Amino acid sequence: MHRLVFVCTGNTCRSPMAELLFNKFIDQHKDLGDWQAISAGLSVTPGQTASRNTHKILAEEENIDSSNHISQQITEGLLKEVDLVLTMTRQHKGILEDKYPEYANKIYTLKGFVSLEKGYDIIDPYGHSEEVYRKTKEEIKEQLSSIVGKLNQFIYEDAGKSKTLTNNNYRGDTMKIAIGSDHAGFELKKEIIKYLEKQGYEYKDMGTDNCDSVDYPDFGYQVANAVSNEEYDKGILVCGTGIGMSIAANKVSGVRAALCHDVFSAKATRNHNNSNVLTMGSRVVGIGLALEIVRVWLGEDFEGGRHQKRINKISEIERGEY
Ligand code: RB5
Repeated sequence: MHRLVFVCTGNTCRSPMAELLFNKFIDQHKDLGDWQAISAGLSVTPGQTASRNTHKILAEEENIDSSNHISQQITEGLLKEVDLVLTMTRQHKGILEDKYPEYANKIYTLKGFVSLEKGYDIIDPYGHSEEVYRKTKEEIKEQLSSIVGKLNQFIYEDAGKSKTLTNNNYRGDTMKIAIGSDHAGFELKKEIIKYLEKQGYEYKDMGTDNCDSVDYPDFGYQVANAVSNEEYDKGILVCGTGIGMSIAANKVSGVRAALCHDVFSAKATRNHNNSNVLTMGSRVVGIGLALEIVRVWLGEDFEGGRHQKRINKISEIERGEY
């Protein structure tokens, strides 16, 4: 028997929906595999029942009784014992990976795992109307209809104390990354590319291709332009200091390039500035720190809200409308 845990924030809406819908589905398709789902939350008031709308919609539309559901906090013990962790958002995934890096290889977002398409998050319906809950339920159900095929692609290796999931076809959350460097950043770029490959990210290396002296704006522009015209979701640029690349990339419309040489800034710039290009200096950071910065920067989400207003002002400055 394989076990998977669906994770949301409070374990009263999205993750219990996913758990109960999954278990019903697998019950009706026993030939598809021996799986059982449970659910948990990242920030739980223990002992809560499923929210009123969750209970109502599951009962009325799916003939599922959720009255036995009791909320529980995700714990290290739970993570250790399950085979797969499917979170509702990238932020949930990032939080779990940061706290429990040793289990990162079995943590995915539900949408990333199932569809490998854009639109990575199942939005929280908490506090919204019944209609919003209904849409959330339909969205989760849609993912679940193709989940079993994906589950069966996985190969299980019993790696001592924790099981390891591997799937050669898995390509991360299908975030597309453009990466570039000048001669000074070339070696570090190679290390970052190795990391991206290992993590299953889709990427394009836009040069330079060796350590011969080149001009960083040529490559900064390529990557920034690919992000600006939405061919790629994010960009990573490396030069000697990271400064030239950030100056060049920030000249391209719609690009918010962030020079980061520490993990705090990498996180904050995603959360607050919604930076879409990361720049680093190979003469400033070592490989270990650089890869950690990349990991955190790629895993973090924009928080929106008051930060969006500020980003709108940056766009106004860019358009000369400020
Ligand atoms: C190249 O020597 C160096 O100037 C470049 O890599 C970068 O640091 C520019 O900001």
